[in-house]
Amino acid sequence: MSRFPSPRAGEHRSVLAQPAVDHVLTDLDGTYVDATFGRGGHSRLILERLAQNGRLIAFDRDPQAVEAGASIADPRFHIEHTPFSRLRVTLDTLSVTRVHGVLFDLGVSSPQIDDPLRGFSLRADGPLDMRMDPSRGETAADWLARAPFEELAQVIREDGEERFAASIAKAIVARRADADTRGGRPLSTTADLAALVANAVGRSRKDAAQHPATRTFQAIRIHINRELEELASALEQAAALLATGGRLVAISFHSLEDRIVKRFIEAHHHPERASGDQRRLPLRADQLPRATLAAIARVYPDEAEMAANPRARSAVMRVAERTAEPWPGAHR
Ligand SMILES: C[S@@+](CC[C@H](N)C(=O)[O-])C[C@H]1O[C@@H](n2cnc3c(N)ncnc32)[C@H](O)[C@@H]1O
Repeated sequence: MSRFPSPRAGEHRSVLAQPAVDHVLTDLDGTYVDATFGRGGHSRLILERLAQNGRLIAFDRDPQAVEAGASIADPRFHIEHTPFSRLRVTLDTLSVTRVHGVLFDLGVSSPQIDDPLRGFSLRADGPLDMRMDPSRGETAADWLARAPFEELAQVIREDGEERFAASIAKAIVARRADADTRGGRPLSTTADLAALVANAVGRSRKDAAQHPATRTFQAIRIHINRELEELASALEQAAALLATGGRLVAISFHSLEDRIVKRFIEAHHHPERASGDQRRLPLRADQLPRATLAAIARVYPDEAEMAANPRARSAVMRVAERTAEPWPGAHR
């Protein structure tokens, strides 16, 4: 039988499940955080391995994920409906001040993408929502209806790495004007947006393997959910909470996420590189800041996993281990 059995509809097939769990667990009686519960693929594997005194605290901002987590009846497990940028305050309320590992499996889950009503998919029509937590924040349709041209173009260019960002932003603004002045339809469904983008870039786009709106959808999703800000904030909090020898494990699915993880680990593995530069002073060896993280692995899915799960093709997992040095600026 395959190591990667096919999921049923609405299920999520976890990427790099065993390697992530192997890397994150260093003490089977320890306290762990699964920052992105999803459907609990990684959490369940962690619980299978944890000893009786071990503890797992899971986070997800999606109420459906949290509902799925509520079915895990295990006294060692607890799930919170909150964004992972609230890691420290949430653990504080649970009186947890040190953890032995934190796992991030970033991005959206298959149940989120596969449900047209969530508005993430450019292949199935649905309302332009794209919020991971539909109970709060602005929908993609609301943002597209109000954002000025410059903001639209910047988000699509930077968060989608889309070279036709200006043409797409221009088409969105023109569509709004048309809806206002001539009673045309506002941009309200995923099919509307996919068609508008395809029309705006269609003749210039050479990479036919990808839908012309893929990058625009990625950009809007990242922006609506503040994904990059969430990640930068949570990495800092997670690393500061780690016990000596504890592990930070992050699985990314696109270069913007991976760049943030990579730079964060590098900056704490080699703080002397940044500090000499910033102060422009010659420093004695004993004055150099010391590493608070050690980069210990970068792992890609193997061929079998990539063949069985197309989502795995873009995945990269980075692992860092906390050293004994105090975290910069930490008060405890
Ligand atoms: C790729 S899925 C995780 C899948 C999970 N590891 C599994 O095996 O089932 C990512 C999950 O993280 C959640 N998520 C993404 N960003 C988040 C954030 N900033 N705070 C909390 N949850 C987040 C999403 O709602 C989604 O359920």
